[in-house]
Amino acid sequence: MEIDVFTLFPEAFGWFERQRHVTNAIARGSRLSYVNYRDHTPLGAGQVDDTPFGGGAGMLIRVDVVDAAIRAHYGRDPLEVRKERRVIALTPGGRLLDDAFVDELAREHRLTLLSGRYEGFDQRVLDHFATDELSIGRYVLAGGELAAMVVCDAVIRKLPGALGHEDSTLEESFSEALAGAPEYPHYSRPAEYRGWIVPEVLLSGHHGLISQWRADQSRLRGARAREAPTEPADLPVADHTGGPLP
Ligand code: ADE
Repeated sequence: MEIDVFTLFPEAFGWFERQRHVTNAIARGSRLSYVNYRDHTPLGAGQVDDTPFGGGAGMLIRVDVVDAAIRAHYGRDPLEVRKERRVIALTPGGRLLDDAFVDELAREHRLTLLSGRYEGFDQRVLDHFATDELSIGRYVLAGGELAAMVVCDAVIRKLPGALGHEDSTLEESFSEALAGAPEYPHYSRPAEYRGWIVPEVLLSGHHGLISQWRADQSRLRGARAREAPTEPADLPVADHTGGPLP
């Protein structure tokens, strides 16, 4: 997988690049690179943004600046580039990122992420250069860098060998294996801590019962999240005995 991130702050990705799943993916041939819009701007004094026509707060990343950066990096007109690869603009109003979208992106061999700053992009960037608009949630970040990192993180951990444990992403929250539901609870040693005990079934060594309990818990969590997504504290506590669920 090759991911190119267009950004005004390539240095923001330093910490992210040192994460184990990222170094694993890079060791297995993936590549992450950064293009700074400012390095390619056709305007003077490193200008990349401008005020919106019609007035209003904030500044927009200019369409000619994005054009120049994409053109310089790929050596082609951005209109051609978007025929060859997904060019994803990070915007608060874009398609919401979820596990299915992450899977879709992880199947691509090449991705381009366009991070915005200020009030976002001139609309012509989205209309003509991007293939997709992607949002990591319905709130507004000061810039697309964190959103780009979220996308890279979620996609890269799905690549073969990135987690060092091939099964890790198969049966996780929102996966097909769990029918899109959140993952079941996990416990580790000690089996009892301050009187809080691990569900008996998990200590039973009975794989069939454990699988059944996990599937039930996952479904229950999914149902509870659908009922009251913002009020988890008020919901009934999961059955931890390993007994059948209602
Ligand atoms: N840029 C600013 N806010 C964003 C969001 N919520 N998702 C993606 N990109 C963004």
